[in-house]
Amino acid sequence: MQRAKVMLRSVYRSLMTNPVSGLRRMSQSSLAGKVAIVTASTDGIGLAAAQALGHRGAHVVVSSRRQANVDKAVSLLQSENIQATGTTCNVGISEDRERLINMTVEKCGGVDILVSNAAVNPYFGNIMDSTEEVWDKILSVNVKAAFLMTKLVVPHMEKRGGGSVVIVSSVAAYQPMQALGPYSVSKTALLGLTRAMAPELAQLNIRVNCVAPGVIKTRFSSALWQNEDVVDEFKKQLCIKRIGEPEEIGGVIAFLCSKEASYMTGETVSVTGGISCRL
Ligand SMILES: NC(=O)c1ccc[n+]([C@@H]2O[C@H](COP(=O)([O-])OP(=O)(O)OC[C@H]3O[C@@H](n4cnc5c(N)ncnc54)[C@H](OP(=O)(O)O)[C@@H]3O)[C@@H](O)[C@H]2O)c1
Repeated sequence: MQRAKVMLRSVYRSLMTNPVSGLRRMSQSSLAGKVAIVTASTDGIGLAAAQALGHRGAHVVVSSRRQANVDKAVSLLQSENIQATGTTCNVGISEDRERLINMTVEKCGGVDILVSNAAVNPYFGNIMDSTEEVWDKILSVNVKAAFLMTKLVVPHMEKRGGGSVVIVSSVAAYQPMQALGPYSVSKTALLGLTRAMAPELAQLNIRVNCVAPGVIKTRFSSALWQNEDVVDEFKKQLCIKRIGEPEEIGGVIAFLCSKEASYMTGETVSVTGGISCRL
């Protein structure tokens, strides 16, 4: 009995001092002490990103347009032992964006990570029938707000000596989806925005990367995955013959924000189950 106890103690000691297990512990908590803002994070991919960042030790600041959704998301994250704060923020409204950043700096002391995840799609139909209002709305929320949010956080990241921005685009950026022309174009613009900002922000030790999810099971895409004919059509393009889950995007976002991705910037990672992504 005594011998077994001694052996167990020695195995434990060796695990604690072993450089490989040490590294594993370090990488699990590799975002400890970081503050992460995730927009549109009370559901779907944004919420999954908040969970992935939080489980790696970051303090996450969640937001969306509705207070009830924010409260629910904060409670969920806290029930998973994640440090979480939240506020409402419609990313299309300038005062909301500023309030989100100010609240984060006041409550959390700074900003290290921004996940720009919010997007809208108010229009289904032929692109040639889409109106100026549709284009204004889509470009304002999906593209302009992603840039303006980044512009707002950069001075705070600079104060911390660097940071990481991840922008959520879509497989539609590469292959415009039928009836989703303006939305698809806005997602292509985000690939350009990522590349345009990366060189300037690298000088401040801020990395900017992008994720292009395929079809992921969320409310946003329910019109696609609830329609069996559409799913069957998609499956023809997929190597992995199923719809993706939000967690499968959240983990990639957390990876891009971590030290493991320290040599990546200006990059778009497609997470599509194998759909070919080329412009
Ligand atoms: N699901 C897919 O298949 C898929 C594929 C490729 C890319 N994406 C992209 O992934 C991102 C997230 O989509 P999702 O599928 O995760 O959507 P989702 O599950 O429907 O969640 C949308 C979230 O956005 C919030 N929201 C909506 N409009 C907002 C606004 N103007 N400002 C702030 N928050 C807002 C919603 O909360 P409130 O209602 O409280 O505002 C909710 O938290 C989008 O950029 C989308 O284009 C999705």
